[in-house]
Amino acid sequence: MRKLINMIGVAVVAHGAYAAGPAKAAEAQAFDKDNNYGVFDYKPAGNVTDFKSAPPANALYRNPAAPIEDRITDVLKYMTPEEKMAILHMTSGASAGDLPRLGLVNFRVYDGPNGSRCDRPITYMPSCIAYAATWDRDLVFAAAQVLGRENRASWAETKTVGRMLLGPGADIARSPTGARNFEYFGEDPVLSGETAAAYCRGLQSVGVSPCMKHYVLNDQEWARTVLDVHCPERALREIYVRPFEIAVRKADPWAIMNSYNLVRGEYASHNLAVNNYLREAGWTGALVPDWGGYHGDVKAINGGTTLESGCWRNSKRDENEVKMLAEGKLDRTLVEKACRDALRLYFRVGAFDADGAADKALQAECVRLFRGREHRAVAYRAAAESLVLLKNADGFLPLDEKAVRTVCVLGPNANRTHSMIGGKHLRDCGGSGAVIAGREPTPLEVALARFGGGNVYTDAKDAAKADVVVYFGGFNHHVDREVLGWGIIKNADRKDIALDDAQVAEIRALAKANPKLVVALTTGAPVAVDPWEGDVRALFVRWYAGEEGPAAFYDALFGKVNPSGRLPYTFGKRLTDWYCHRLGEKVFPGVKLAQKRNGVEAEEHYDDGIWVGYRGFDKFKIEPKYPFGYGLSYTTFAFEKAGSCGAKVTNTGDRAGRCVVQCYVSKPGSDAVEMPEKELVDFASVELKPGESKTVSFDLGFEQLKYFDEAKNAWTRAKGRYIVSIGPDSANRPVVHTFE
Ligand code: BGC
Repeated sequence: MRKLINMIGVAVVAHGAYAAGPAKAAEAQAFDKDNNYGVFDYKPAGNVTDFKSAPPANALYRNPAAPIEDRITDVLKYMTPEEKMAILHMTSGASAGDLPRLGLVNFRVYDGPNGSRCDRPITYMPSCIAYAATWDRDLVFAAAQVLGRENRASWAETKTVGRMLLGPGADIARSPTGARNFEYFGEDPVLSGETAAAYCRGLQSVGVSPCMKHYVLNDQEWARTVLDVHCPERALREIYVRPFEIAVRKADPWAIMNSYNLVRGEYASHNLAVNNYLREAGWTGALVPDWGGYHGDVKAINGGTTLESGCWRNSKRDENEVKMLAEGKLDRTLVEKACRDALRLYFRVGAFDADGAADKALQAECVRLFRGREHRAVAYRAAAESLVLLKNADGFLPLDEKAVRTVCVLGPNANRTHSMIGGKHLRDCGGSGAVIAGREPTPLEVALARFGGGNVYTDAKDAAKADVVVYFGGFNHHVDREVLGWGIIKNADRKDIALDDAQVAEIRALAKANPKLVVALTTGAPVAVDPWEGDVRALFVRWYAGEEGPAAFYDALFGKVNPSGRLPYTFGKRLTDWYCHRLGEKVFPGVKLAQKRNGVEAEEHYDDGIWVGYRGFDKFKIEPKYPFGYGLSYTTFAFEKAGSCGAKVTNTGDRAGRCVVQCYVSKPGSDAVEMPEKELVDFASVELKPGESKTVSFDLGFEQLKYFDEAKNAWTRAKGRYIVSIGPDSANRPVVHTFE
């Protein structure tokens, strides 16, 4: 074995993009003063000669208090070349680690992002789009802790602890038809990146690795496994890579998942240049291809992949990889980097410390909280804060509990569940976003429990006599779902953003029967509400809100919850309001090739560039139905200018409320470079009692002001006048600051 190590020899390595990476990456690499990973050159440690016995109990790497980089270097001294290859692959479809000789335990990898998709019932949390609608990083952090703890505890009775959750999703809602928009954070890269960062930090705080997905350009389901996506560089950097880049800077996610699709002719998981964008931002995590998206060791490892997913332990493969390394077929720098990155992941999730007191205590805490009251309280808060009130004619809401005795509860989502319960197959309930909900009371069940059977009507014939009618409409996970299977699959994404005719007819008829009509939409994406919204008194978007969704909703109806969520994307009136839908098939959703080439069956060109979401609505002066960031409250807020880049927000109404404060920048453009009319650069969330004021200041530096200059192929800060505008939504920004 030693001979083999020597044979592999010492390589002088050029680090390329990594060498110039920012401080954090440099720190992770500081272990090696020659700037050489040296993974295969370490001399065996201590008295280890046969690589069969367990390393000594006092080996440095076994000490949880030692710095991770030192622990990595140390453990490598006890590993055979084959073991170094073995750690680059998962071990049984959805688990990883598993080198008992070294004390590395096997751990489970569970799907997310709605919860741990394990085999037992869990707390059913809202989906990612609902988190984006809260615009509340602290809440998202707390929700992710719930997800993380339950992920760890979901197999508490065995040693196979869940230490990785496959989420959050952070692709962009480029088209409102995207079937997985519910798993992502909307149309804006800053809202997506900031929410994802909070989510990743929450998971990591309880020792669970996120696997932020899907990097990159997986913004639709149609043909996702065989689609070659071409995107102009500026749009790629500013819109699609940006959520990941922000998460890298703010959370350094312990893992990121590549998407299935190809990017400029290379599978995303093989596209070293695009994968390196993350490394350039300082990322020290593990890159994991999507399940089945690893197309051979040479291409994947040489493309920057760290850890193959969905595969099994295979000693022949490991031996073969050692051979390929010696023959120069595998890029030595990348293999060695992958080894260190994989080990870093294992150390971070505590897979080397599973027998230690700290890991055991954390595990016990996770088991104690599993499906408990505390977790349910976070599920409730997330459901409540994500509710977006779009219309409230004449202050119809909140309702007076004393005056409302009878409620008519109707619509396709009134008595429907959205988790795995009731779904016969994953395909029916969102794909990898599905979970087994420990409980998921439907809106009807909650109404019956709250108002009493005799006071709840469920027949439209009774609508006229009810004190209030609530129509639970919208979509479900037959439509908002991951599309399973390889190749081009028909009807993958939504066809349109309209509600089906039956729902529209029903809403209209109900409005005639009883004007006290509230519509609540379950959806992962924008809905065309124009045809019927004029007929209804109040309109809510309630996403896929998890097990506490109905409870939070009724509390909002009666004012115990003051709605404070904001739209994470623009509600247009028709599909063609979105630029990508006006440019033809080639631009969206892509065209099928006459002849397959190297696994590619379709091609898509993002000629809509950076003009995604409100950026596109602004450029073409299209009036949205409801703008990005919009949402009403039962109280009112006034904004005044404060400081050099802030706003004083006052609650001018008579009830307490939370105000989301949004900060946009208009950058100086030129003939050569067109800038969006405005772009979200930061946001904050403030709770205010009646009459109370709070001042919010934004600190804008290069990261917030930069744009990607294609001519220089670099992030740049344009010269000229910047306008900062602050307000409660993207169309209402009363506070303005300017600077050069
Ligand atoms: C999905 C991923 C998921 C993985 C594992 C893939 O089909 O695209 O989001 O995490 O399966 O279930």
